[in-house]
Amino acid sequence: MTLPSEAPRDPSRRRLVNRLLGGSFGALFAWILYPVLRFLEPVEVVEAAANQVEAGRADDPDLVANGFKIVPFGNDPVILVQTPEGEHRAFSATCTHLDCIVEYRPDRGLIWCNCHNGQFDLSGQVVGGPPPRPLRPYRVHAVEAEAGGAATLVIEKV
Ligand code: FES
Repeated sequence: MTLPSEAPRDPSRRRLVNRLLGGSFGALFAWILYPVLRFLEPVEVVEAAANQVEAGRADDPDLVANGFKIVPFGNDPVILVQTPEGEHRAFSATCTHLDCIVEYRPDRGLIWCNCHNGQFDLSGQVVGGPPPRPLRPYRVHAVEAEAGGAATLVIEKV
């Protein structure tokens, strides 16, 4: 005679519960482990393979309308400025104070960091605010188009 508590259990039901529990623990483990592993994995640093990048055409609407544009140069953003005289200059766009991205203010004739009102002249020198060092300069040269269109601007490490 078998007691009710000793009644044979349904093995397929037990297997199903075990699988559900195992899957839940596996999902929980992955949910916790994945961000930890992503955090510990070193970030891949992509350096500019070359010493120069193309910055687009000299008649780029953004450049003409705003007087500047930000150009990616490997991991460094570079600010390409078109002066009121039409000259092109380029500097690291990373402020030397606390690494905010600078912008060109044509109304003030200077490169400006809106984080703490850092100000640089069009030679990259600090003229106001807390930045401790000038902006790193880049060389800009124009490659004339073959068909007579606008030249292509190329930014180069100095
Ligand atoms: S980060 Fe540019 S002035 Fe502070």
